[in-house]
Amino acid sequence: MDKILSYWIETTRDTNYPQLESDIDVDVAIVGGGITGLTTAYLLSKGGVKLAVIDANRIAKGTSGHTTAKITSQHSLKYAKTIKSFGEEKALQYAQANEAAIDMVEEIVKENNIDCDFKRVPAYVFTQEEDYIKKLENETSAAKSLKLPAEYTDRLELPFSIKGAVKFSDQAQFHPRKYLLALASIIKEKGSHIFENTRIVDVQEGDPHILVSDGGKLIRASSVVQATRYPFFDTPGLYFSRLYPERSYLIGMHIDGSLPEGMFINAESPTRTLRMHTSDNDSLLLIGGENHKTGHGDDLHKHYENVMDFANRNFTIIDAPYKWSAQDYTAMDEIPIIGSMTSGKNSIYVATGYEKWGMSNGTAAAMIISDLILHGESPWEQVYSPSRFTPVASAKNFIMENADVAKNYITGKLNTPDNEIDIGRGEAVITEVDGNKVGMYRDTDGKRHIVSTTCTHIGCELKWNSAELSWDCPCHGSRFTYTGDIIEGPALENIKPNETSI
Ligand SMILES: Cc1cc2nc3c(=O)[nH]c(=O)nc-3n(C[C@H](O)[C@H](O)[C@H](O)COP(=O)(O)OP(=O)(O)OC[C@H]3O[C@@H](n4cnc5c(N)ncnc54)[C@H](O)[C@@H]3O)c2cc1C
Ligand code: FES
Repeated sequence: MDKILSYWIETTRDTNYPQLESDIDVDVAIVGGGITGLTTAYLLSKGGVKLAVIDANRIAKGTSGHTTAKITSQHSLKYAKTIKSFGEEKALQYAQANEAAIDMVEEIVKENNIDCDFKRVPAYVFTQEEDYIKKLENETSAAKSLKLPAEYTDRLELPFSIKGAVKFSDQAQFHPRKYLLALASIIKEKGSHIFENTRIVDVQEGDPHILVSDGGKLIRASSVVQATRYPFFDTPGLYFSRLYPERSYLIGMHIDGSLPEGMFINAESPTRTLRMHTSDNDSLLLIGGENHKTGHGDDLHKHYENVMDFANRNFTIIDAPYKWSAQDYTAMDEIPIIGSMTSGKNSIYVATGYEKWGMSNGTAAAMIISDLILHGESPWEQVYSPSRFTPVASAKNFIMENADVAKNYITGKLNTPDNEIDIGRGEAVITEVDGNKVGMYRDTDGKRHIVSTTCTHIGCELKWNSAELSWDCPCHGSRFTYTGDIIEGPALENIKPNETSI
């Protein structure tokens, strides 16, 4: 289990869509080819819209290629607090949007005969702590009041004891890349464009909007959808202070035995999420958790070890051939931000902040945005509205996260440089070269790779990620390889000096 391998990526073909090589005109430009972008493209192309999906890398290899792929409206303990913060009407919109998203995935699978291991199963949030029983009971009542298929139980046939659980019936799971690659083929068949290895680096608002690619080519589009997780095009100050990134870890293992049918997550910390995936005669147990803010913590290998310890304590493991980690964003008020971020008919849309529940929320986002583009309204637009004002629900996270951004911006700059540059193979250090603060990683062949540790987004100081061998930004989650290339945004430029290696 040494290599980082996503089971979803390892068990599907590579894609090979072209780069954008000339200027084009479309009705809608969708930036980002994960579940949000591809589902939006599918729904719009069904409605006859001429569109392009543009991805900076290969499609379905972002967080959608690294998920646990539970499709559920059960988002841990969500509904009691959403009713409290947003009121019944908006909590109902959230519940209905996510239930409708499960139905939508099923409808798409059936309509197009997509072989993606889609299966209806129950979802459970359980606790092993007495203190949480009351919270689970409250969550059950809140979910029931919103007509969600919830019931309380204190019995589960798991290999460890539990104190109680909330069950949601009729939820679902699938193989996300089998599903998304099939959607991409359908989108192409309907005559739309898909471009890979094409990063959008600027959007000039207008009629039409003009998107600029990193290769200097232009896309003119009446509407733009930012399906990039963190929006790279910001209304000043709107998103940078409203979202924070969190990483999480998964291990795929073969075990002697199985789990009972269903998908499981605990209510307490550290998070433990579990489900079986059966595909092509292979049956794999996925176990994950260990959420932490991106760019925080020292030895990040520890998170894989902790998941493995939990697995070893509770299962007989035959082998564990897959492990991977990824990140997602959470909005300060813990409801995704989906909808139009500009005024006027031909808008720029955004969909982000899924709090690691983007299989359903990303599908709901596609339904909302395609409805807004095609019909001008959606039944769920209010709860997700980018222009909502929720000072009470946001306050605690807002103060904590923005103090953290300020701290990483300032202390990063003021740190006393570490002049110890004689580092071992496979290690990294932040040091000073010619008076400039740099990050240095020495690879297993002994070659040293030196990059600037200032994030090209808005200048926070990067931290070393020892598990993924990357430089990660604690402020808004941009990540760079040890040679300086962007892995994921919102940064749009590599860190320098890219090519300096000793
Ligand atoms: C470990 C983990 C487990 C999870 N498990 C679950 C689960 O069980 N159920 C669930 O519902 N959710 C889960 N989630 C959350 C879910 O996977 C995500 O919310 C969802 O995949 C996000 O989809 P997306 O399409 O918005 O983003 P992505 O899939 O990340 O797609 C965004 C795309 O945008 C592209 N892009 C970014 N910037 C640019 C640019 N400037 N130009 C062009 N392209 C760009 C990227 O290359 C990427 O391909 C999990 C998340 C994590 C981290
Ligand atoms: S991602 Fe915003 S400063 Fe790095």
